[in-house]
Amino acid sequence: MATEQQTTGASADSGAANGTETLTVTDNRTGKTYELPITDSTVRAMDLRQIKVHEDEFGLMSFDPASTNTASCRSSITYIDGDKGILEHRGYSIESLCQNSSFLEVAYLLIWGKLPTQAQLERWTFDITHHTFVHEDLKHLFEGFRYDAHPMGMLLSGVGALSTFYPDAKQIKDEEERYMAAVRLIAKVPTLAAFSYRHNMGLPYVYPDNDLSFAENFLSMVFRKTEAKHIPKPELAKALDVLFILHADHEQNCSTNAVRGVGSSDVDPYSAVAAGVAALYGPLHGGANEAVLRMLRRIDRIDNIPDFLERVKSQEEKLMGFGHRVYKNYDPRARIIQEHMPAVFEATEYNPLVEIARELEKQALADEYFTSRKLYPNVDFYSGIIYEALGIPTDMFTVIFAIPRTAGWVAQWMEMQEDPEKKIARPRQIYTGERNLDYVAVDDREGPEKIVGPPARRPKRPRRGA
Ligand code: SDX
Repeated sequence: MATEQQTTGASADSGAANGTETLTVTDNRTGKTYELPITDSTVRAMDLRQIKVHEDEFGLMSFDPASTNTASCRSSITYIDGDKGILEHRGYSIESLCQNSSFLEVAYLLIWGKLPTQAQLERWTFDITHHTFVHEDLKHLFEGFRYDAHPMGMLLSGVGALSTFYPDAKQIKDEEERYMAAVRLIAKVPTLAAFSYRHNMGLPYVYPDNDLSFAENFLSMVFRKTEAKHIPKPELAKALDVLFILHADHEQNCSTNAVRGVGSSDVDPYSAVAAGVAALYGPLHGGANEAVLRMLRRIDRIDNIPDFLERVKSQEEKLMGFGHRVYKNYDPRARIIQEHMPAVFEATEYNPLVEIARELEKQALADEYFTSRKLYPNVDFYSGIIYEALGIPTDMFTVIFAIPRTAGWVAQWMEMQEDPEKKIARPRQIYTGERNLDYVAVDDREGPEKIVGPPARRPKRPRRGA
């Protein structure tokens, strides 16, 4: 707990001097000095509350829109060093995991904290493989969507609906229920994802095939037609499994923050993960891979790149797939994805957008506008190109991101349940509105004639990208 020190003319002992890790703060409004403890290179925002001018005041708060410099929790799942481009899960580098592991093994590592033994991995794989079916009633939910409904909207609804099929998941303190929710979410999200694709294509749903691996099974549920068994090319399944590892978790990103925020109300994990799906849908977050492909298609030819970059620099466009809140260096995941592109392109037809992407990256990284802002390619810049090569439509890209990120969301949700500092998320605000107004009857009100909202008789608009 911070201690308040009345400045008596003698300067307060600085933390360094007497070896304690503290911040000495002087409130120049009162001349009072306070010593705030520094723990793990942070100070507690609540320690600011004692800093007041008058005793009956609320006290100081910190103000940090979008939490750009605020730690929201303690976590041991993922470590990122944005300046050095380092990403580790439970202490293992993303490079070593992509080289040696599989997505299901990484999902186990994220959730349970250790690499599984052979027996643990077999049981984990068996449980997930045997929970990939969804209740038949969920098919009726999907049948209620328009043919051109965006698959992320369908996935969002499907994951939320899972909470209605497993009401026991509300027992969030029950370890068995937590285990079952973890298994069901990791197992069923790919099935719901594939259902959303098949609904868009007007194709019958393909049920899970328990003989296949996690990545093979997803490709089978997406692409199987009349063949009795759909066996994807091994190099494509391998590339997808690596992409799943690369997208599994990324510490306190926007969607994980949503899962933790919603989960802090003690809601069931299906509803908390549905909040993560909703956040991931946004083009600044998981929707970026879809936006990258649309951007590359709009650029269309390499000689259009200079003009496009000029429009980015005049802020008429964003260079989607570039920039990151944490990485101020090359996103290590973007490097790893590029290593797997040749194998995918050998097994599929060549994708001309790759040339545009590579030339776009080259010209951007040679331009001071981007390097001065530390804007480098992130995970989304190349992932969409591989998904397209796999024959997956653009509006399914974020759905594919959600599949592995479900393991990360579950891991973060589970870790939060054990956190002794877990409390319902309830930020404060700086109030900027009116106060103490008297109510005015509607006949006595004056005001601008403008009616808010679009004109009453709005012309029918063509449906924008579903
Ligand atoms: C993911 O958080 C995570 O870990 C996310 C993720 C995960 O695994 O969960 O890694 C996945 O979401 C990757 C990011 C995918 N999004 C995109 O590729 C969309 C394009 N990128 C940007 O919108 C942006 O870079 C963000 C949102 C990713 C990060 O934004 P920040 O950290 O808030 O950066 P900023 O907006 O403060 O930008 C700093 C400057 C600004 O210029 P100035 O006002 O200083 O002149 O850089 C500019 C921005 O305008 N800028 C860009 C840009 N990104 C930032 N300019 C052009 N194109 C861009 N992409």
